[in-house]
Amino acid sequence: MFIKRKRGWEIPESEATPESVFLNRRTLMAGAAGLIGASALPRIALAEERPTSDLYPAPRNEGFVLDRDLTEESVAANYNNFYEFGSSKSVAAAAQRLEAWPWSVRIEGLVEEEQTLDVEALIRRMSLEERLYRFRCVEAWAMAVPWTGFPMADLVALARPLSSAKYVLMETFYEPTMAPGQRQIWYPWPYTEGLTIAEATNELTMMVTGIYGKPIANQFGAPLRLIVPWKYGFKSIKSIVAFRFVEERPMSFWEELAPQEYGFWANVNPDVPHPRWSQATERMLGTNERRDTLLFNGYGEWVADLYEGMERERLFA
Ligand code: MTE
Repeated sequence: MFIKRKRGWEIPESEATPESVFLNRRTLMAGAAGLIGASALPRIALAEERPTSDLYPAPRNEGFVLDRDLTEESVAANYNNFYEFGSSKSVAAAAQRLEAWPWSVRIEGLVEEEQTLDVEALIRRMSLEERLYRFRCVEAWAMAVPWTGFPMADLVALARPLSSAKYVLMETFYEPTMAPGQRQIWYPWPYTEGLTIAEATNELTMMVTGIYGKPIANQFGAPLRLIVPWKYGFKSIKSIVAFRFVEERPMSFWEELAPQEYGFWANVNPDVPHPRWSQATERMLGTNERRDTLLFNGYGEWVADLYEGMERERLFA
C-alpha cells in the first residue's frame, strides 16, 4: 500500500526484497543470534505460549472451499502489512514487540450499554471455526489462508447496537513506544476502518483469532482482527481495541491519507483500476502465479445484494 506522495520508505512491491532473499537473510540472522546470544532480539512468542492455545485447531467449516492451493504459512507469515511496525513487508520480527495478551476491547457509541471485554474471555465465549478464504490486497498480491475465528455478527449481537447505529468503526491500539511506526506522525494514527452494520453482520465477515490452526501470530494482527474477504485487504484491520457504533459513515486510515486512491467500500473488482495500477490480475504469494482477479474476490454470491441500488457510490475503490 503506498500513497500518492511517494516518499523514500515507500518502495513499490516490485522493488521490494524478494522473499527468498529475505528468508535467507532471516535464517542467517537467526544463526548469528544463536552464536552471539538471542537476548538483543525481540522474543518471538510461540503459538503454544498463547493463553488460548487449547482452542486450536478449531473445526473447519466446509462451506467455504477454495479454487487454489493454500499459501504456505512461512510465506504468509513473512509478508505482511502492519504499518504500526514499519512500512515494509518484513515486519514479522518487529511485530513481536506487540503485547497482545492480556488485551481488552471497548464496545461503545450507539449501543444499549457500553462494555469493555477481556479478549481471552470473549474468545472462550464464542464458537470458533476455521474457514479457508481468498485474501486480496489492493496492491495486487493475493493469498489463500485458513483463518480461525467467529462471525462478526455474534459480536454485533453481543454489543446490542441501537437502531440509530448505521456503521461500526473499528480502531487499532495507539502505543508509539511499543509500535515504532506510530512515531511517523504523517500517518493518521490510530489505524481505523469501518463497515455498515449489514456488512458487519454478513455471514462472511469474521473476527479472526487464529490462523493455520494456531492462535494468531502477532504480525497478522493478534489477538483480534477483522477479515472481510470480498474487500481489499486494507479493510481487514488488525489488533482491534475498540468497536464504535455510529450513525455517520466513518473515515478510515487510508481514505484519510489518500482519498483519491482509497475509499470506504473497497470491494474487489478487476475492471476498476487503482489510479496507479491495474486490478485485472493478482500475484499469489509464494508461487508468483498470476490469476485473474475475481469480482468481489469471488464472493459475489454472498455479498452482491448488499450493494444493489448503490451504482452512484465508489463501490470498488
Ligand atoms: N491493520 C493495521 N492496524 N495496520 C495495518 O498497517 N494493513 C492492512 C490490513 N490491516 C494494516 C492493517 C493492509 S494494507 C493489509 S493488505 C492487510 O492488513 C495485510 O494483512 P496480513 O499482513 O495479515 O496479510
